[in-house]
Amino acid sequence: MKRRTVLVAMAAAPLGAMLPLPAFAQKPIVLGFAQVGAESEWRTANTQSIKSSAQEAGIDLKFSDAQQKQENQIKAIRSYIAQKVDVIAFSPVVETGWDTVLVEAKNAKIPVVLTDRAISSKDDTLYVTFIGSDFTEEGRKAGRWLVEKEKGNAGPINIVELQGTVGSAPAIDRKKGFEEIIKSDPKFKIIRSQTGDFTRAKGKEVMEAFLKAEGKKINVLYAHNDDMAIGAIQAIEEAGMKPGKDIIIISVDGVKGAFEAMMAGKLNVSVECSPLLGPQLMSVVKDIKAGKSVPKRIVTQEGIFPMEVAAKEFPNRKY
Ligand code: AHR
Repeated sequence: MKRRTVLVAMAAAPLGAMLPLPAFAQKPIVLGFAQVGAESEWRTANTQSIKSSAQEAGIDLKFSDAQQKQENQIKAIRSYIAQKVDVIAFSPVVETGWDTVLVEAKNAKIPVVLTDRAISSKDDTLYVTFIGSDFTEEGRKAGRWLVEKEKGNAGPINIVELQGTVGSAPAIDRKKGFEEIIKSDPKFKIIRSQTGDFTRAKGKEVMEAFLKAEGKKINVLYAHNDDMAIGAIQAIEEAGMKPGKDIIIISVDGVKGAFEAMMAGKLNVSVECSPLLGPQLMSVVKDIKAGKSVPKRIVTQEGIFPMEVAAKEFPNRKY
Protein backbone atom coordinates (compact mmCIF):
# COMPACT_ATOMS: atom_id res chain seq x y z
CA MET A 1 0.00 0.00 0.00
CA LYS A 2 2.76 2.34 1.02
CA ARG A 3 4.73 1.62 -2.19
CA ARG A 4 1.68 2.32 -4.39
CA THR A 5 1.20 5.78 -2.83
CA VAL A 6 4.78 6.76 -3.61
CA LEU A 7 4.42 5.75 -7.26
CA VAL A 8 1.23 7.74 -7.72
CA ALA A 9 2.84 10.83 -6.21
CA MET A 10 5.82 10.52 -8.54
CA ALA A 11 3.61 10.17 -11.59
CA ALA A 12 1.68 13.33 -10.66
CA ALA A 13 4.77 15.43 -9.89
CA PRO A 14 6.04 17.70 -12.70
CA LEU A 15 9.36 16.62 -14.19
CA GLY A 16 11.13 19.76 -12.97
CA ALA A 17 10.18 18.95 -9.36
CA MET A 18 12.07 15.65 -9.48
CA LEU A 19 15.14 16.50 -11.57
CA PRO A 20 17.36 19.59 -11.47
CA LEU A 21 16.81 21.57 -14.71
CA PRO A 22 19.82 21.38 -17.05
CA ALA A 23 21.09 24.76 -18.30
CA PHE A 24 19.75 24.27 -21.83
CA ALA A 25 16.20 23.85 -20.53
CA GLN A 26 16.07 27.43 -19.15
CA LYS A 27 13.06 29.44 -20.25
CA PRO A 28 13.82 31.48 -23.41
CA ILE A 29 13.94 35.25 -23.17
CA VAL A 30 10.65 36.76 -24.35
CA LEU A 31 11.01 39.88 -26.53
CA GLY A 32 8.00 41.98 -27.56
CA PHE A 33 8.72 43.95 -30.76
CA ALA A 34 6.37 46.70 -32.00
CA GLN A 35 7.19 47.32 -35.67
CA VAL A 36 6.23 50.50 -37.59
CA GLY A 37 4.56 48.74 -40.51
CA ALA A 38 5.43 47.36 -43.93
CA GLU A 39 5.68 50.66 -45.80
CA SER A 40 8.91 50.06 -47.71
CA GLU A 41 11.41 47.54 -49.05
CA TRP A 42 13.66 48.67 -46.17
CA ARG A 43 11.01 47.85 -43.58
CA THR A 44 10.40 44.38 -45.04
CA ALA A 45 14.13 43.65 -44.78
CA ASN A 46 14.19 45.02 -41.21
CA THR A 47 11.29 42.77 -40.14
CA GLN A 48 12.97 39.77 -41.76
CA SER A 49 16.25 40.55 -39.98
CA ILE A 50 14.51 40.79 -36.58
CA LYS A 51 12.51 37.58 -37.05
CA SER A 52 15.40 35.47 -38.32
CA SER A 53 17.90 36.72 -35.72
CA ALA A 54 15.43 36.06 -32.88
CA GLN A 55 15.06 32.50 -34.11
CA GLU A 56 18.82 32.02 -34.39
CA ALA A 57 19.37 33.48 -30.91
CA GLY A 58 16.67 31.24 -29.36
CA ILE A 59 14.64 34.29 -28.30
CA ASP A 60 10.87 33.97 -28.13
CA LEU A 61 9.71 36.90 -30.30
CA LYS A 62 6.25 38.45 -30.04
CA PHE A 63 5.87 40.66 -33.12
CA SER A 64 3.24 43.24 -34.06
CA ASP A 65 2.82 45.48 -37.12
CA ALA A 66 1.38 48.93 -36.32
CA GLN A 67 0.50 49.83 -39.91
CA GLN A 68 2.28 53.17 -39.45
CA LYS A 69 -0.08 54.26 -36.64
CA GLN A 70 1.29 55.42 -33.29
CA GLU A 71 -1.85 54.34 -31.42
CA ASN A 72 -1.33 50.75 -32.66
CA GLN A 73 2.27 50.76 -31.44
CA ILE A 74 1.17 52.05 -28.03
CA LYS A 75 -1.49 49.30 -27.85
CA ALA A 76 1.12 46.67 -28.73
CA ILE A 77 3.54 47.97 -26.05
CA ARG A 78 0.74 47.90 -23.45
CA SER A 79 -0.09 44.33 -24.39
CA TYR A 80 3.59 43.33 -23.99
CA ILE A 81 3.57 44.96 -20.53
CA ALA A 82 0.42 42.98 -19.63
CA GLN A 83 2.07 39.77 -20.86
CA LYS A 84 5.13 40.55 -18.68
CA VAL A 85 7.64 40.01 -21.50
CA ASP A 86 11.33 40.24 -20.54
CA VAL A 87 12.26 43.10 -22.91
CA ILE A 88 10.29 45.43 -25.20
CA ALA A 89 11.83 46.79 -28.40
CA PHE A 90 10.23 49.12 -30.91
CA SER A 91 10.92 51.41 -33.81
CA PRO A 92 8.90 54.56 -32.98
CA VAL A 93 6.84 55.70 -35.98
CA VAL A 94 7.11 59.34 -34.81
CA GLU A 95 9.42 61.02 -32.30
CA THR A 96 7.01 62.40 -29.72
CA GLY A 97 4.19 61.09 -27.52
CA TRP A 98 5.84 58.05 -25.90
CA ASP A 99 6.45 59.13 -22.31
CA THR A 100 3.21 57.80 -20.79
CA VAL A 101 3.49 54.28 -22.15
CA LEU A 102 7.24 54.11 -21.48
CA VAL A 103 6.69 55.16 -17.85
CA GLU A 104 4.23 52.23 -17.64
CA ALA A 105 6.95 49.88 -18.93
CA LYS A 106 9.45 51.35 -16.48
CA ASN A 107 7.04 50.89 -13.56
CA ALA A 108 6.58 47.26 -14.64
CA LYS A 109 10.41 46.95 -14.64
CA ILE A 110 10.51 45.93 -18.31
CA PRO A 111 13.57 47.31 -20.11
CA VAL A 112 12.92 49.06 -23.44
CA VAL A 113 15.23 49.16 -26.48
CA LEU A 114 14.71 51.62 -29.35
CA THR A 115 15.70 50.33 -32.77
CA ASP A 116 16.00 52.24 -36.05
CA ARG A 117 14.23 55.46 -34.93
CA ALA A 118 14.71 57.65 -31.86
CA ILE A 119 12.17 59.31 -29.60
CA SER A 120 12.20 62.89 -28.40
CA SER A 121 11.82 62.88 -24.61
CA LYS A 122 13.43 64.78 -21.73
CA ASP A 123 13.68 61.51 -19.79
CA ASP A 124 16.38 59.26 -21.22
CA THR A 125 15.85 56.69 -18.45
CA LEU A 126 12.75 55.51 -20.33
CA TYR A 127 14.89 53.32 -22.59
CA VAL A 128 18.12 51.40 -22.15
CA THR A 129 19.68 51.98 -25.56
CA PHE A 130 18.99 53.15 -29.10
CA ILE A 131 20.38 51.04 -31.96
CA GLY A 132 20.22 52.61 -35.42
CA SER A 133 21.56 54.92 -38.10
CA ASP A 134 22.63 58.54 -37.85
CA PHE A 135 19.88 60.03 -40.04
CA THR A 136 21.30 63.56 -39.92
CA GLU A 137 24.59 62.28 -41.28
CA GLU A 138 22.68 60.47 -44.05
CA GLY A 139 21.13 63.82 -45.03
CA ARG A 140 24.57 65.43 -44.98
CA LYS A 141 25.98 62.68 -47.21
CA ALA A 142 23.18 63.33 -49.73
CA GLY A 143 23.90 67.07 -49.61
CA ARG A 144 27.68 66.65 -49.99
CA TRP A 145 27.18 64.38 -53.00
CA LEU A 146 25.02 67.03 -54.68
CA VAL A 147 27.39 69.91 -53.89
CA GLU A 148 30.27 67.91 -55.42
CA LYS A 149 28.20 66.92 -58.47
CA GLU A 150 27.18 70.54 -59.18
CA LYS A 151 30.64 72.06 -58.73
CA GLY A 152 31.17 74.57 -61.51
CA ASN A 153 27.44 74.85 -62.31
CA ALA A 154 26.39 78.45 -61.67
CA GLY A 155 22.79 77.44 -60.96
CA PRO A 156 20.12 78.04 -59.93
CA ILE A 157 19.60 74.39 -59.01
CA ASN A 158 15.98 73.75 -58.18
CA ILE A 159 15.35 70.88 -55.81
CA VAL A 160 12.10 69.12 -54.94
CA GLU A 161 12.05 67.08 -51.75
CA LEU A 162 9.96 64.04 -50.88
CA GLN A 163 9.91 63.85 -47.11
CA GLY A 164 9.33 60.73 -45.04
CA THR A 165 6.51 60.28 -42.54
CA VAL A 166 5.66 63.59 -40.84
CA GLY A 167 7.15 63.76 -37.34
CA SER A 168 9.39 60.71 -37.81
CA ALA A 169 13.07 60.87 -36.87
CA PRO A 170 14.38 59.99 -40.37
CA ALA A 171 12.20 62.66 -42.03
CA ILE A 172 13.24 65.35 -39.55
CA ASP A 173 16.94 64.48 -39.51
CA ARG A 174 17.46 63.73 -43.21
CA LYS A 175 15.92 67.10 -44.04
CA LYS A 176 18.07 68.88 -41.45
CA GLY A 177 21.35 67.23 -42.55
CA PHE A 178 20.73 67.90 -46.25
CA GLU A 179 19.80 71.57 -45.67
CA GLU A 180 22.82 72.08 -43.42
CA ILE A 181 25.10 71.25 -46.38
CA ILE A 182 23.31 72.90 -49.31
CA LYS A 183 22.73 76.20 -47.48
CA SER A 184 26.44 76.97 -47.95
CA ASP A 185 25.63 77.91 -51.56
CA PRO A 186 22.55 80.01 -52.45
CA LYS A 187 22.40 78.46 -55.93
CA PHE A 188 20.65 75.45 -54.30
CA LYS A 189 16.94 76.11 -53.80
CA ILE A 190 14.34 73.72 -52.39
CA ILE A 191 11.33 74.83 -54.43
CA ARG A 192 8.85 72.18 -53.18
CA SER A 193 8.90 69.87 -50.16
CA GLN A 194 6.13 67.52 -49.15
CA THR A 195 5.66 64.18 -47.42
CA GLY A 196 5.36 60.96 -49.43
CA ASP A 197 5.05 58.91 -46.19
CA PHE A 198 7.96 56.64 -47.21
CA THR A 199 5.79 54.72 -49.73
CA ARG A 200 6.08 54.21 -53.51
CA ALA A 201 2.43 55.09 -54.13
CA LYS A 202 2.66 58.39 -52.24
CA GLY A 203 6.06 59.17 -53.75
CA LYS A 204 4.57 58.84 -57.23
CA GLU A 205 1.47 60.87 -56.38
CA VAL A 206 3.40 63.78 -54.84
CA MET A 207 5.98 63.80 -57.66
CA GLU A 208 3.12 64.04 -60.17
CA ALA A 209 1.92 67.13 -58.32
CA PHE A 210 5.46 68.61 -58.26
CA LEU A 211 5.78 68.05 -62.00
CA LYS A 212 2.41 69.62 -62.67
CA ALA A 213 3.35 72.70 -60.65
CA GLU A 214 7.01 73.13 -61.64
CA GLY A 215 7.54 71.04 -64.82
CA LYS A 216 10.95 71.45 -66.42
CA LYS A 217 12.11 73.85 -63.70
CA ILE A 218 12.93 70.82 -61.51
CA ASN A 219 16.63 69.88 -61.63
CA VAL A 220 16.95 67.57 -58.63
CA LEU A 221 14.76 65.25 -56.57
CA TYR A 222 15.88 64.47 -53.01
CA ALA A 223 13.75 61.60 -51.65
CA HIS A 224 14.07 60.56 -48.00
CA ASN A 225 13.89 56.89 -49.06
CA ASP A 226 14.34 54.66 -52.09
CA ASP A 227 10.70 53.61 -52.31
CA MET A 228 9.48 57.18 -52.78
CA ALA A 229 12.24 57.76 -55.35
CA ILE A 230 11.14 54.65 -57.27
CA GLY A 231 7.52 55.87 -57.25
CA ALA A 232 8.72 59.31 -58.42
CA ILE A 233 10.76 57.74 -61.25
CA GLN A 234 7.51 56.31 -62.64
CA ALA A 235 5.87 59.75 -62.46
CA ILE A 236 8.84 61.38 -64.23
CA GLU A 237 8.77 58.79 -67.03
CA GLU A 238 5.02 59.17 -67.44
CA ALA A 239 5.59 62.93 -67.80
CA GLY A 240 7.91 62.18 -70.74
CA MET A 241 11.15 63.03 -68.95
CA LYS A 242 14.26 60.96 -68.24
CA PRO A 243 14.88 60.23 -64.53
CA GLY A 244 18.59 60.31 -63.68
CA LYS A 245 19.27 62.67 -66.63
CA ASP A 246 16.62 65.39 -66.93
CA ILE A 247 16.15 65.22 -63.17
CA ILE A 248 18.98 64.10 -60.87
CA ILE A 249 17.66 61.71 -58.24
CA ILE A 250 19.14 61.28 -54.76
CA SER A 251 17.62 58.91 -52.22
CA VAL A 252 18.36 57.02 -49.01
CA ASP A 253 18.40 53.31 -47.96
CA GLY A 254 20.39 51.38 -50.60
CA VAL A 255 17.79 48.62 -51.12
CA LYS A 256 18.04 46.25 -54.09
CA GLY A 257 15.25 48.14 -55.90
CA ALA A 258 17.40 51.29 -55.80
CA PHE A 259 20.41 49.39 -57.14
CA GLU A 260 18.28 48.11 -60.05
CA ALA A 261 17.15 51.68 -60.76
CA MET A 262 20.78 52.89 -60.63
CA MET A 263 21.91 50.11 -63.00
CA ALA A 264 19.14 51.21 -65.38
CA GLY A 265 20.53 54.79 -65.19
CA LYS A 266 17.37 56.16 -63.55
CA LEU A 267 18.62 56.94 -60.04
CA ASN A 268 21.89 58.77 -59.45
CA VAL A 269 22.83 57.91 -55.87
CA SER A 270 21.51 56.12 -52.80
CA VAL A 271 22.83 56.83 -49.30
CA GLU A 272 22.99 53.61 -47.32
CA CYS A 273 20.75 53.03 -44.27
CA SER A 274 21.03 49.46 -43.05
CA PRO A 275 17.86 47.64 -41.94
CA LEU A 276 19.85 44.61 -40.73
CA LEU A 277 19.51 45.48 -37.05
CA GLY A 278 18.32 42.06 -35.85
CA PRO A 279 21.67 40.53 -34.75
CA GLN A 280 22.67 43.63 -32.73
CA LEU A 281 19.24 43.79 -31.13
CA MET A 282 19.32 40.15 -30.02
CA SER A 283 22.80 40.51 -28.59
CA VAL A 284 21.77 43.64 -26.63
CA VAL A 285 18.63 41.88 -25.35
CA LYS A 286 20.78 39.01 -24.05
CA ASP A 287 23.21 41.43 -22.41
CA ILE A 288 20.39 43.30 -20.69
CA LYS A 289 18.95 40.04 -19.36
CA ALA A 290 22.41 38.99 -18.16
CA GLY A 291 22.68 42.26 -16.22
CA LYS A 292 25.53 43.57 -18.39
CA SER A 293 25.73 47.29 -19.13
CA VAL A 294 25.11 48.35 -22.74
CA PRO A 295 26.02 51.65 -24.46
CA LYS A 296 23.23 54.23 -24.58
CA ARG A 297 23.68 54.68 -28.35
CA ILE A 298 24.76 52.09 -30.93
CA VAL A 299 25.31 53.70 -34.35
CA THR A 300 25.10 51.67 -37.56
CA GLN A 301 28.07 52.08 -39.95
CA GLU A 302 27.02 52.93 -43.51
CA GLY A 303 28.27 54.07 -46.94
CA ILE A 304 26.98 55.84 -50.04
CA PHE A 305 26.48 54.29 -53.50
CA PRO A 306 26.52 56.42 -56.66
CA MET A 307 25.14 54.81 -59.85
CA GLU A 308 28.68 54.32 -61.21
CA VAL A 309 29.39 51.59 -58.63
CA ALA A 310 25.93 49.99 -58.59
CA ALA A 311 26.61 47.05 -60.91
CA LYS A 312 29.80 46.12 -59.04
CA GLU A 313 28.15 46.38 -55.61
CA PHE A 314 24.84 44.73 -56.49
CA PRO A 315 25.97 41.10 -55.90
CA ASN A 316 27.08 42.06 -52.36
CA ARG A 317 23.78 43.60 -51.33
CA LYS A 318 21.92 41.68 -48.61
CA TYR A 319 18.63 43.60 -48.70
O1 AHR B 1 13.38 54.52 -40.34
C1 AHR B 1 14.01 54.09 -41.48
C2 AHR B 1 13.22 54.49 -42.67
O2 AHR B 1 11.92 53.94 -42.59
C3 AHR B 1 13.74 53.99 -44.00
O3 AHR B 1 14.59 54.88 -44.63
C4 AHR B 1 12.48 53.91 -44.78
O4 AHR B 1 12.60 53.27 -46.00
C5 AHR B 1 11.61 53.28 -43.79
O5 AHR B 1 10.33 53.14 -44.10
